[in-house]
Amino acid sequence: MSDPGLADLLGPITAYQESALIGTAVETGVAEALAGGARDPEAVAAACGCDPRGVQALLSGLVAVGLAARVEEGYELTERGAPLASAHPRSVASVVRKEWFFYRVWAELPQAVRDGHARIAPWRERLAADPETSLEFLRALDDLAGLFGTELAELAGPCSGRLLDVGGGAGSHAAALVEVNPGLEATVLDLEPVGPLVAERHPDLGFVPGDLDEPRFGLPADDSWDTVLLANILHDHPADRCRALLAEAAALLRPGGALLIYDWIIDPDRAGPPPVALFTPMMLVENEGGFTWTTPEITAWLTAAGLSRTIPRGASGPISVLRATP
Ligand SMILES: C[S@@+](CC[C@H](N)C(=O)[O-])C[C@H]1O[C@@H](n2cnc3c(N)ncnc32)[C@H](O)[C@@H]1O
Repeated sequence: MSDPGLADLLGPITAYQESALIGTAVETGVAEALAGGARDPEAVAAACGCDPRGVQALLSGLVAVGLAARVEEGYELTERGAPLASAHPRSVASVVRKEWFFYRVWAELPQAVRDGHARIAPWRERLAADPETSLEFLRALDDLAGLFGTELAELAGPCSGRLLDVGGGAGSHAAALVEVNPGLEATVLDLEPVGPLVAERHPDLGFVPGDLDEPRFGLPADDSWDTVLLANILHDHPADRCRALLAEAAALLRPGGALLIYDWIIDPDRAGPPPVALFTPMMLVENEGGFTWTTPEITAWLTAAGLSRTIPRGASGPISVLRATP
């Protein structure tokens, strides 16, 4: 007699196959070719420079998981599979490319669990060695914020004056805050190669090159801000670095200013919420010393930085907001 518990376990055991089909459909251009009208596997293979038998195997797999369908002339993307093409109005192609990159990084999870070290280089090295892949990653984060929204604006409370988005990437979260706080003057601080991406994605934001490893992140001594935002930054760093980063960020605030933290915050027992718990091994493989932090841990670092009033604002999704003031 079959064991329903074991049968249920087969799903996660083989889940890599669906991820690989999706990554391959985007990576090879097969999703793009299908969206562009190619139907017959031979025509799709010719359009993508692929092997016809290989394309047929991929198409069969895509049909099995509901991303493509058999039609009279060959195959087409289903409604569920259509966003895999980059021309789709709600395309997830950049997100697939980012996750396909991590698919291969996660294959090294056993080594990371054994030795505790990340499997990829820090941002500065990644941006220097392979700027296109690194900027594509940041484009994917911006697309995700655009597709799924960001609750930051509604949870942060009103912001006015000057806002600095530290390690802001494409500037998705600063842009979301500007949208609901007219007149807010927002600037992204990030490593120099990220500047053109901010101009491409959110041209109304300012950009200042800076470095998290420098005092005041490389900003002049007289520069001060009403709001300093750290969105998805703390999880990239070990505890002692988080404490130092928050001290630098607090030192940039004007009197009356506020520090905003937008991050994947884990429960004190580190067992939930489920999306944050699952995000924790991602930090292990991606960032040296990366982890998910608890509200009490972050609050203690903020208090040490002179920000003793911290208001946690939970979100319906996995990412929470902490607003800290002296
Ligand atoms: C996980 S991404 C977060 C991007 C953005 N805040 C968001 O939430 O979408 C980390 C960001 O930190 C930036 N970063 C990494 N190391 C940095 C450094 N040493 N100085 C300045 N920025 C850095 C990266 O370029 C990247 O934009």
